[in-house]
Amino acid sequence: MDHFIYQDGQLFAEDVPVAEIAAAVGTPFYVYSTATLVRHFRLFDEALAWGPHLVCYAMKAASNQAILKTLAAEGAGMDVVSGGEYARAKAAGVPGDRIVFSGVGKTRDEIRMVLEGGIRQLNVESEPEMRAISEVASSMGLTAPITVRVNPDVDAKTHAKIATGKSENKFGIPIARAGEVYAEAAALPGLKVIGIDVHIGSQLTQLEPFEQAYKKVADLTEALRADGHDISRLDLGGGLGIPYARSNEAPPLPMDYGALVQRTVGHLGCEIEIEPGRLIVGNAGLLVSDIIYVKNGEGRDFLILDAAMNDLIRPAMYEAHHEIVPVKEATAGAELTPYDIVGPVCESGDTFAKGRLMPPLQTGDLVAFRSAGAYGAVMASEYNTRPLIPEVLVHGDQFAVIRARPTFDEIINRDTIPEWL
Ligand code: LLP
Repeated sequence: MDHFIYQDGQLFAEDVPVAEIAAAVGTPFYVYSTATLVRHFRLFDEALAWGPHLVCYAMKAASNQAILKTLAAEGAGMDVVSGGEYARAKAAGVPGDRIVFSGVGKTRDEIRMVLEGGIRQLNVESEPEMRAISEVASSMGLTAPITVRVNPDVDAKTHAKIATGKSENKFGIPIARAGEVYAEAAALPGLKVIGIDVHIGSQLTQLEPFEQAYKKVADLTEALRADGHDISRLDLGGGLGIPYARSNEAPPLPMDYGALVQRTVGHLGCEIEIEPGRLIVGNAGLLVSDIIYVKNGEGRDFLILDAAMNDLIRPAMYEAHHEIVPVKEATAGAELTPYDIVGPVCESGDTFAKGRLMPPLQTGDLVAFRSAGAYGAVMASEYNTRPLIPEVLVHGDQFAVIRARPTFDEIINRDTIPEWL
C-alpha cells in the first residue's frame, strides 16, 4: 500500500497534488511519501516484535539524508556498504552502534573509518577481508565486532543480476566452510565474533528460499555454539520483494516473513537484524516525468519523455517493469493505445516500456512511474550531461526539495583542465 492515489481526477502524493510539485520544481523529479516510508518500516518492526531485533534499512536503495532521518526517527538502524554510505548515515544523525557494515570488499580505509566512528558490526565477506579487519582493529588497539556472511547455496528465484545466495555468486563464505572460518576468527586478534550474516538476493517474491537459508543458518548456529563460539546475533539480510505490476503480483507480506523468521530461528534466542531496502522505499517513491513529444512511428507510436535511462536505469538494466500512470486520471472507459515509452538518450536501451497500453496522452502531460523509490535516484548518472534530477519529500500537505537539481555550471565546473590545454 502507498499514499499515491487519485483524488478528484488528480494523482496526489499524500495531500499534495503531484502536478503542484511539478509546477514548483520542474520535471523530471523523484517524490517520496513520508507516510509510506514510515508505514513500511513499522510493518517490519511489528513483524519482528516477538523478540529483540533491529531493522537496519539498506540505504543503498535510497540514501537521501531526509529519508534516513525519517526512518531513524522511527528507530531504524542502517545497513551501509561503503565509506560514503557510512558518512551519510552519520551525517543524518544515526549513531554508529545502529549501523552495520556490509559489502563484498571493504577497504582498509573504510574499515579504519567505521572503527573510529563506531560501528554495530562488520559483516565479513571473505577470509582476506577478515584478516584485514583484524590487522586494522589491532593496530588501533580496538576490537571489531563481526559476523561472517555465509553463502547458503540457495536459489533465490529472482533476476540473475540480483541473486546473491548461490555458490557461484561472489558473496560470502560457503556455508560448508563456516566452521574453519569461525575457528580462524576466534584465533585472530582484534575481532569479536558476535553472530552470523546471510543475504540471498533481492526482489524475492516467495518465502521458500528464505526458509531454506534460515534453516541452514539455524543449524549452523547450533554447530558453532557447540564449537564454543558466541552466536548471539543473526543478520538475516534483506530481499523481500514488492509488487511492481499491481495486477498480478502478490509477494509475501512482512508479517508472514516475520513469522517465518520466528519459526526458523526464533528458538535460538538471538537478537535478529534484517536489512530491507526495497520494501521500505520502493513503493514510497514516484518518478514524475513530462511527455516531450508523441511520435507516430512505423507501425508503432512513441511517448518521448523528459526522463531517461540515466534517471531510472532499472528497465534498461534488469528488464524491470514499472507501472506508468498519467498524473491526470484517465476517464473511466478511456480507449487504451499501445506506446513504446522512451527517454531522449541516444541509445535504444533508453526504453522504459514497449507496447504499453496507455490512455490518451499528449505533449505536456505528466506521467508517473510507480515503485521508483528503491534503486532509482541512487543509480542515476549524468550520462549525456543530464543533471541528476531533484528529490522531493512529501509529509501530509507539505513538501520539500531534499536534493536540488544542479545547474549546468555546477556540473561542468567539476571538470578541471590540465595546464597544457
Ligand atoms: N543487504 C545486502 C547485503 C544487500 O546486498 C542488499 C541489496 C540488501 C540488504 C537490500 O535488499 P532489498 O531489501 O532492497 O532487496 N539495483 C537492484 C537491486 C540490488 C540489490 C543489492 N543488494 C535493483 O534495482 O533491483
